[in-house]
Amino acid sequence: MTQYQVVTGTEAVLRDGTIKLHGPAGFEGMRRAGRLAAEILDALVPHVQPGVSTQHLDDLVRQMTLDGGAVPATLGYRGYTHSCCISINHVVCHGIPSDKVLKDGDIVNIDVTPLLDGWHGDTSRMYLVGDVPLKARRLVDVTHECLMLGIEAASRPGARLGDIGAAIQAHAERQRYGVVREFCGHGLGRLFHDAPEVVHAGRAGTGPELKPGMFFTIEPMINLGKPGVKVLEDGWTAVTRDRSLSAQFEHSIGITETGVEIFTKSPRGLDKPPY
Ligand code: MF3
Ligand code: CO
Ligand code: CO
Repeated sequence: MTQYQVVTGTEAVLRDGTIKLHGPAGFEGMRRAGRLAAEILDALVPHVQPGVSTQHLDDLVRQMTLDGGAVPATLGYRGYTHSCCISINHVVCHGIPSDKVLKDGDIVNIDVTPLLDGWHGDTSRMYLVGDVPLKARRLVDVTHECLMLGIEAASRPGARLGDIGAAIQAHAERQRYGVVREFCGHGLGRLFHDAPEVVHAGRAGTGPELKPGMFFTIEPMINLGKPGVKVLEDGWTAVTRDRSLSAQFEHSIGITETGVEIFTKSPRGLDKPPY
């Protein structure tokens, strides 16, 4: 039985397995956090170039987050010591910023989560570095389509959580891409990672009913090859087992009476490449 918990304002909530249902104060908080997150990804566009180190990009994210009056939620999260995740090519997610330098032809995901006045804005986009081969650009395009089809599925009246994964999986597998199963979207709000788990593959008509006031992310990871992943020795970096390219986009959304509000949409229309 799915349990829901009404959150009226900015009171503390626990990670107790309940799905939180937020009111206007929550929507306002998420709007501000999500907008800052999107602005940070917008501002990174000119910096994602061949020759730049991922640590430099992390420094920019940290500074922009602090300048926006927020803190990076990843900093100190379960021992993670960076302000964002940067995942290149066959890295699926949770790539750790380092002195590694971007090179022509790379596809890169940057995932940021500013915590602003107690609310989490979690979003990621793909960036193309220099000249990217068509096969990789197609993967990036289709992965963005998967995210938007998932959001569309969530916005239908009477939608259930399983409708999201079903829509994403159908679209990805039509192109013979692999949908990563080990990492999911998640409830968020006052908490960074909360119930429910939003899986990116599954059956329509299953899972909890989506109710107004639910906040969660959708963040499909789609592989050019097989869906399998493994986590490297560092305990974070997830890569495709077959070393095929992987892409991901993430939005934070809220369920409304009439559909969905996307909190992390780019104010400048830079939601996907080409930028
Ligand atoms: N932002 C990631 C997500 O989408 C989580 C990163 S946690 C970290 O859920 F510790 F790896 F940064
Ligand atoms: Co997330
Ligand atoms: Co994220």
